[in-house]
Amino acid sequence: MSIIYFNGEFIPQEDAKISITDRGFTFGDGIYEVIPVYNGTAFRLPEHIQRLENSLANIRLKIDYKLTDWQRIFDELLTRNLTEFGKGLSLYLQITRGATAQRDHLLPNKPKPTIIAFCMPYVPNTIEKLAQGIKAITLPDLRWARCSIKSTNLLPNVLQRQEAEDQGAQEAILIKDGFAFECTSSNLFLVKDGVIVTPPKSHHLLGGITRDVILELAAKHNMPYAEQAIPETALTSADEIWISSSTREIRPILALNGKPVGDGTPGPIWWQLIQHYFAFKESLNTPHTA
Ligand code: PDD
Repeated sequence: MSIIYFNGEFIPQEDAKISITDRGFTFGDGIYEVIPVYNGTAFRLPEHIQRLENSLANIRLKIDYKLTDWQRIFDELLTRNLTEFGKGLSLYLQITRGATAQRDHLLPNKPKPTIIAFCMPYVPNTIEKLAQGIKAITLPDLRWARCSIKSTNLLPNVLQRQEAEDQGAQEAILIKDGFAFECTSSNLFLVKDGVIVTPPKSHHLLGGITRDVILELAAKHNMPYAEQAIPETALTSADEIWISSSTREIRPILALNGKPVGDGTPGPIWWQLIQHYFAFKESLNTPHTA
């Protein structure tokens, strides 16, 4: 039985009850994080918590938790759930503005946030698995103007991910005003003439933790890269296109809108980067012991 963190307590998942007036439920008024666990350690925890704090500030919600509080909560969750999940798990964290007496669009004066965290099964990928790549399509970006907030309002993302699936693809690159910013649940990279390109952080995309790792690794290993806008037209002439996220890691898109990207196999720059990425993950060898 999985044990979750729920408003200050560790309880069996089945015992957690949320009010029907919880604003996360009625308005999607909440934010979240997904954190993979490698070698028993939450990957890039300070960075995830920094992004969480940015999301909270942007939705005007204050809570008293610091990085050390989260560290303690996650350590406890990992210890209590190791038997249930074995070694393959990730952490999910969600904060909503909580329940109110009545449904009201106005923000409550004294919100009582609902704070939950739990483990999810997650089997880390192998390079061979990632090299199988994915197919993607382009779709018009249906989302709002504050995509840098990791909001639980994911209906456009969910519908557009399904649209991709319906068309035999595993991700959709979202296009706004002629530019590609990111995908339904991942960031976007392309390679042209040996240079790795990803759009700069803005309200049009989520500043991905994996995205930052890629740019750090590129800098460290002298791989040319640029944070620059990607016109939709650049997708068709790209040598390589990749997606990145905490759970999908770094995957090459091998076909876009039914046409091969490059020669339809993972490109040389992806192969180079993925070796650095795996070496980096393996260097994080501080196993969690129950
Ligand atoms: N999604 N862009 C969007 C819209 C995302 O939802 C995600 C991650 C990313 C990549 O961010 P990161 O590298 O920090 O995971 C980019 C998570 C995994 C999810 O919703 O499950």
